[in-house]
Parts: sequence; C-alpha cells; structure tokens
Amino acid sequence: MNVHATALADAHLPDEQTSAFARDAIDDLSQHPKRLSPKYFYDATGSELFEAITRLPEYYPTRTELSILRDRGSEIATLVPKGAALVEFGAGATTKVRRLLQDCAVGAYVPVDISGDFLRAQADALREDFPGLSVYPVAADFTAPFALPASIAGLPKVGFFPGSTLGNFEPHEACAFLRSARDILGRAAQMIIGVDLEKDERLLHDAYNDAAGVTARFNLNVLVRINRELGGNFDLSAFAHRAIYNRERHRIEMHLISKKHQAVRMLGTSFSFRLGESIHTENSYKYSLERFGALARGSGWTVRKSWTDPARMFSVHALMASD
Ligand code: AVJ
Repeated sequence: MNVHATALADAHLPDEQTSAFARDAIDDLSQHPKRLSPKYFYDATGSELFEAITRLPEYYPTRTELSILRDRGSEIATLVPKGAALVEFGAGATTKVRRLLQDCAVGAYVPVDISGDFLRAQADALREDFPGLSVYPVAADFTAPFALPASIAGLPKVGFFPGSTLGNFEPHEACAFLRSARDILGRAAQMIIGVDLEKDERLLHDAYNDAAGVTARFNLNVLVRINRELGGNFDLSAFAHRAIYNRERHRIEMHLISKKHQAVRMLGTSFSFRLGESIHTENSYKYSLERFGALARGSGWTVRKSWTDPARMFSVHALMASD
C-alpha cells in the first residue's frame, strides 16, 4: 500500500467522503493564498464546538434568529400554506425547525444533509415529538441538485435555510444556490431564510473572537481532522486563530496563521509555511436588507416580507418564487 492508501484505510469516514476531503485539502493548500473549505469544520467535535459557539455571549446570530422566529411565528405561519412540505437545506440542531413546526401547519418535513447518521437521529427525535408529522430525510449535498422524495410531490413546498449559512457562499455562489433551491422546490415555492446583517464592526469582531477561545478551537479543529483522517502532522500550537472584518467585501474572514516558518506533511505531500502565512478557512458574508433583497431578486425570488430583531442584528426573510 502506498502512503495515501494507508492513510485512507485508517480514516474513520466512508472512503468516498475521505477522498473528497483529501482531494480538497491537497488542492486548497496548494493555492496561493492557502485555504480550506468551511464545510470540513463539521465532524462530531466540530459540530459540538459550533453548538458551544451558539451559546457564547458574544455570538448573537443563533439566539437572535430564534427570537425572530419566536416573535414572528404567527406572521410566518400565515405565509406558509397549510400541509406544506418544509425542506431544510442542511440539518443542524433541530431547535429552529421545531419553532416553525409549532407555529405552522406543516404536513411533511424533509431535512437534507450530507451526514446520513446525523439526519436519521434528528428525524427519529422529531417523529417522537411531532407524532402527526411525516419526516423524509434526504442524504445529499444540498449545494448540488438533488431529488425530493416522491411522497411530497403533491404538497406545496417551503424551503428553510436558517443560520446565515448563505453567508459562507461567495455572492455568485449564493445566487447559484438560491436558483438551484428554486429549481428543486419548483414553481410557486416559498422559502424562509435567515441572513446575518452588517453592523458595528466591534460586535462582529467579538462574535468571531470570543474571550473563551471556543471559535479558535473550532477553527483549529480542521487541522485536527487533517491529522487524524488524512495522516497529517500539523503542530496545533504553531497556528493561531485570526478573525477579521473585511469592510470592502462585507465579510468576516477566518484564518489560521502560521506562527513560524515550517513544513507540514499530509498524504505524502509537503506544504511549507512562511512565518505569518495564512490558511483562509471561512468567509461569513454580512448583508444589508437592500443587498439581500437585490440578491434574492436576481436569483429567481421575490421578497414577500423581511423581519429583524429590534437592534437590527439579524434578519429572516419570506421569499416567493418569481416566474
Ligand atoms: C454556521 C456559517 C453561520 O458564519 O457565523 C461561527 C460559522 N464560524 N463562528 C458563521 C461560524 C465561526 C457560522 N455559520
């Protein structure tokens, strides 16, 4: 066995997922500047760290979005057709969808996520708590086209994309995602989407540089995964978390900064780092209501209604497919 095969055989993921991770990591670390995709943050540890982030005093998005869903639940319910199929793009904690399921007369729930195990556990918990609800999980990468279950063919469709996950996409990717969601959901579809807003830079900075260092551990976890799953030898103490607000591009950028000149090996490939060199690990785009509205309109949707919290930290939008 060559060095690749050995490392891949030792990994704990299905081969297909491990080799996609391997390909992406090698490609992305060969770029100038180096980068890694934020989708690789979320193994079991990364998902737990993200849950911990959502409880940090500095990280306002999750609790603010929930407060909007709670305070505007009855208004949202009037826009969701009775018996609709709610299709969630990406499945995290079920807290937000539970909010919608309590307020809206939804007939079926279709969580779509790449992690099949996680989906099944989530589906079981929801079936138990909402006995009348049909749950049809779909294991798929929601950024690519996928087929909806045949069982919901006759139901009105409502997409759900909370958490400002849209912010991880480049603006052209966000447009492509919204178009693809419209194609998947079909004509006459609706969509409920949560989008983080531009705000005082100090608040943004603190949300991604928490005092307890949880975001730093979340960021570094992608290197932990490379070490374990791809046989890497990253020295975690030789990289530092950095999150900055890029004002021109309206985005928080997360980086891992090399604290020294060093070489790191992974799957038989060596990558050298200069002192201060960055691996760009995430963008989190922030929108104004106007810029999000323009994005939605340019991507096949009409904004029916937008809600924010009183401090205008976060926004939730009800979209309708335009013809
Ligand atoms: C899950 C993409 C919405 O951008 O705020 C949290 C991820 N990164 N802290 C975000 C994240 C660092 C989060 N999203």
